Amino acid sequence: MDTRPHRARSWISCGQIGNTPDNTAGVNLLNLDGQLAIGRGGTVTIGKKTPSPPEGFPLYAYVPPLHPENLGDPRFKKTYHLRYAYIAGAMANGITSVEMVEKAGRAGMLGFFGAAGLSLDQIEAAIDRLQESLKDIPFGFNLINSPNDPELEAAVVQLYLRRGITLVSSSAYLDLTLPLVHYRVKGIHRDKNGTVVCPNKVIAKVSRVEVARKYFSPPPEKLLAQLVARKMITAEEADLSKSIPMAEDLTAEADSGGHTDNRPAITLLPTMIALRDELTEKYRYSRPPCVGLGGGIATPDSAAAAFAMGAAYILTGSINQSCVEAGTSKTVRQMLAEAGQADVTMAPAADMFEMGVKVQVLKRGTMFPLRAAKLYDLYRNYDRFENIPEKQKAVLERDFFRKSFQDEWEQTKKYFAIHDPKQIERARKDPRHKMSLVFRSYLGQSSNWANSGDPSRKIDYQIWCGPAIGAFNQWFSPNRVRVWNC
Ligand SMILES: Cc1cc2nc3c(=O)[nH]c(=O)nc-3n(C[C@H](O)[C@H](O)[C@H](O)COP(=O)(O)O)c2cc1C
Repeated sequence: MDTRPHRARSWISCGQIGNTPDNTAGVNLLNLDGQLAIGRGGTVTIGKKTPSPPEGFPLYAYVPPLHPENLGDPRFKKTYHLRYAYIAGAMANGITSVEMVEKAGRAGMLGFFGAAGLSLDQIEAAIDRLQESLKDIPFGFNLINSPNDPELEAAVVQLYLRRGITLVSSSAYLDLTLPLVHYRVKGIHRDKNGTVVCPNKVIAKVSRVEVARKYFSPPPEKLLAQLVARKMITAEEADLSKSIPMAEDLTAEADSGGHTDNRPAITLLPTMIALRDELTEKYRYSRPPCVGLGGGIATPDSAAAAFAMGAAYILTGSINQSCVEAGTSKTVRQMLAEAGQADVTMAPAADMFEMGVKVQVLKRGTMFPLRAAKLYDLYRNYDRFENIPEKQKAVLERDFFRKSFQDEWEQTKKYFAIHDPKQIERARKDPRHKMSLVFRSYLGQSSNWANSGDPSRKIDYQIWCGPAIGAFNQWFSPNRVRVWNC
């Protein structure tokens, strides 16, 4: 046997040297007179035949073409009839608008309408429009955990079931709730071949391993028993549910805009994939959940890195807020376009203010993060508004509320009278709770001012976004050095 090195070699003949516009061919790495060169096209010959330049060149490596539709897990794309393994994540208050969901769907991607923060009527109007316009093109809705308003969460699930919404992105759950399990298992049955069919699909968004474990497991028996006892599902539906995971698929959410645990993607995704493998082995699922990645994805490089790490699909949020389809204002888009990676920070969240939960927001060009932090600080240190030092109270009334505390309370009451009247009753007995509702009202309005582009309140804009926006701006910058030709 001839063991001399380089005896059997690959050669490429008729290849073109340098960059060509032919995107269908792969890329060849060649030896061109002792120098490395890139070529495309040609015929590869393996073995002793050695055509000499310019008819042929020694070939070091060949990289086949890889188009965006070839990225990601084919099972994921098949399940949702997608061309691309790409999700446009839900953004509250319709920032992920019907227009954005339509555009994503028509482009072969999956968009989740940003239902959080909207009324049932507004959500139903979005359902009307998307069912009418997209028909069989896939789309989904956000189902967000509402620990402060469990009735709303149950009502949203009823709405989705009634209107045939069969795909949701579930988010902000720290534990599985009865409405979420109800949604997932309602209608589960066996088809004529005996295969278990679960019509409602949940793509869970999770940043904690202990929560992912619940989603990768079958729906909890305790909640199934409650649903049967309340006649919300049949005993057969409960029984069949034991063979499926709670989530059809799961997005590991790393450091992102909005609610985030600021987890690094590079540690989170492999852990979630390993957990999926462990629980698939345990429960012997016929279709193991796909694991995708969201958080920080903003450029071709970060998308490629996510897929290289094993993401079945990718999900984006912050960068989509810059799109013309996003349900936000021109001013917000302009502010986002100027942001760098360090121009974001954590600020108290309106929905879970008392619990000290934070959201990631833009800090450049707005005082919101500082003001929100001040309000949380005051809430922690004083048991009622009246006990806050006079000077500080004056600042709040002049700069934050732009009206007296009493007038702000009257306005806050009007909001809660419609959305959650129990809060007003509680505030009557508990002055600290009253102060908290007024502070939360400022936080809530600050998102509306941003979305509507109220020029008089630009200084108070609350704009959720993560460092992804800075990475995107750098990549998109006209000053960026682009190296196209090697
Ligand atoms: C403005 C904004 C609003 C968001 N609102 C929601 C929401 O209502 N529900 C939800 O599940 N995720 C929400 N997210 C998170 C996104 O769906 C997505 O998971 C996240 O933005 C991905 O990380 P990235 O911001 O680094 O791209 C929001 C994100 C942003 C930027």
